Amino acid sequence: MEQKEFIYKILLLGDSSVGKTCFLMRYTDNTFQDIHMSTIGLDYKLKNVQLEDGKMVKIQVWDTAGQDRFRSITKNYYKGAHGIILIYDVTESKSFENVKNWMNQIKEEVSNRVTIVLVGNKIDDEENRKITTEQGESMAKEFDIMFFECSAKTGENIDGIFNNLVKKVVENFAKSAESGQKLKKKKAGGKHCC
Ligand code: GTP
Repeated sequence: MEQKEFIYKILLLGDSSVGKTCFLMRYTDNTFQDIHMSTIGLDYKLKNVQLEDGKMVKIQVWDTAGQDRFRSITKNYYKGAHGIILIYDVTESKSFENVKNWMNQIKEEVSNRVTIVLVGNKIDDEENRKITTEQGESMAKEFDIMFFECSAKTGENIDGIFNNLVKKVVENFAKSAESGQKLKKKKAGGKHCC
């Protein structure tokens, strides 16, 4: 029987206008749009990623709506997520301040096995930058998550972010599958005990 291919689920989260859709479009289609069209609810794209060891894995990346009015829809999609990319806009302080609220919501919805990465987008707009790299780094440290900066406009660092995240997601998934197996064996062993 043909085995079903495993797909890792990645979510893009963050305030409205931080550039989630552009980030995804740059990664999957290598395109960029100057206009902001708010995402309504959700949308996803599939992509094959080659790991350093040559292994190919499939990811499904969900672009969620940043606007509050869609929050109840997007919350459902936390279920089964393997990785989360939490984006803020380095030119918008509010989107950075809201990272704490996003992290609180994420912690409520997902297990701590989910790999999270914090990303500061729009670094091409250096003139309007409000949030320094050091501020981003220290926020990520506070939550013990990975940190990167990028530009969906120029494409800087987009592939690198996905490669690093997917590598970590696959590692963590293997670890949790292994500990799940051990637990199962232990339980089964317990039944036959004595
Ligand atoms: P919602 O769907 O409302 O949650 O917004 P979003 O986070 O998906 O934002 P979107 O990708 O639609 O981008 C919002 C605006 O930011 C658009 O006008 C984009 O052109 C602009 N933008 C996105 N990424 C970049 C970037 O890297 N640099 C610059 N300068 N502008 C960007």
